[in-house]
Parts: sequence; C-alpha cells; structure tokens
Amino acid sequence: MKEEDTNKELSWMEKNEIEKIIRSVEDPKYQKIELLQKLQGKYKWLQDKHMEYLAETTGISYTDLYGIATFYTQFKLHPPGRHKISVCMGTGCHVKGGKKILEKLKDILDIDVNETTEDRRFSLDQVRCLGCCGLAPVIDIDGETFGRVSTKEIEGILKEFK
Ligand code: FES
Repeated sequence: MKEEDTNKELSWMEKNEIEKIIRSVEDPKYQKIELLQKLQGKYKWLQDKHMEYLAETTGISYTDLYGIATFYTQFKLHPPGRHKISVCMGTGCHVKGGKKILEKLKDILDIDVNETTEDRRFSLDQVRCLGCCGLAPVIDIDGETFGRVSTKEIEGILKEFK
C-alpha cells in the first residue's frame, strides 16, 4: 500500500465514475490494462482505493491489478507533482550522458523514476526521445526543453520551478 493513499473512503462520485469505467469496456476481466488506463486518465494516477473498488466490483483480483500497474511504466502509482520532469534516455541522449543527468536528478530530488517528491513539487519520468537529439542530453520540464544540460546546471534549472 502506498502512503499517499491513506483516505480509503470512496465518495459516491468516485464509485459512480469507476462503475462508468467498468461499463465502458466489453469484458473487464480481459481488459484490465484498458481499465487501468481509463482509471488513470480520470484521476491522473492510480490510487489503491480506486483499484480496490475496481477489483471488488469486477471480481478481478487486486493483486492482478496492482501487478499490472507496477509492471508498465505508463502507470503512475504516485500523485503527479506540480512540475513534471522528463529525462530523455533515447540513444542520442544516452551516449551524451543522459544517464548521469537522470542519476543527478534522482539524487537531488531523492526520488526514483515515476515518483513524486514529498512536497509534490516535482515528478520524475524518463522518455525515449524528445525529438531534439541534436541538443543531447535533453530534459523537459513542463514542456520547456533544456538542451546540452550538464549535471552542474541541474540545481539551477530546478530553482526556476517553484
Ligand atoms: S535521443 Fe534524446 S532527444 Fe532524441
């Protein structure tokens, strides 16, 4: 269980939304990924209480849903931060030190990929290619691209995002 997900009470609205999601697929038991995608689309991340209700209502085991949610990187098990950092790990960026940039960010923020800082200021993500390989290594914060970044510049860049 995740610590952010402490309030287990589901509102009538939440139950209703989840039931709508279940009704939107033909056979929930064979469309678990789709159900989770829709659930995440609605609430921006997958909360235990929502997955539990989904499991309870469809008869799918919670362990199954949780297993899928942790297996695929598209699923977020933490609430998004105010600022989303995407680090490019495509070939172009990788050879130019993308991994070092990612490690530095993990170190400064004290989180791993797909996680959010405790103060909910930043979430960290890794992507395959941001489409500007000539600027490698590249990171993107809230849609703003930072090219040819060095580990020394990271802290200064983050300061711009309150
Ligand atoms: S590989 Fe990083 S922008 Fe393309």
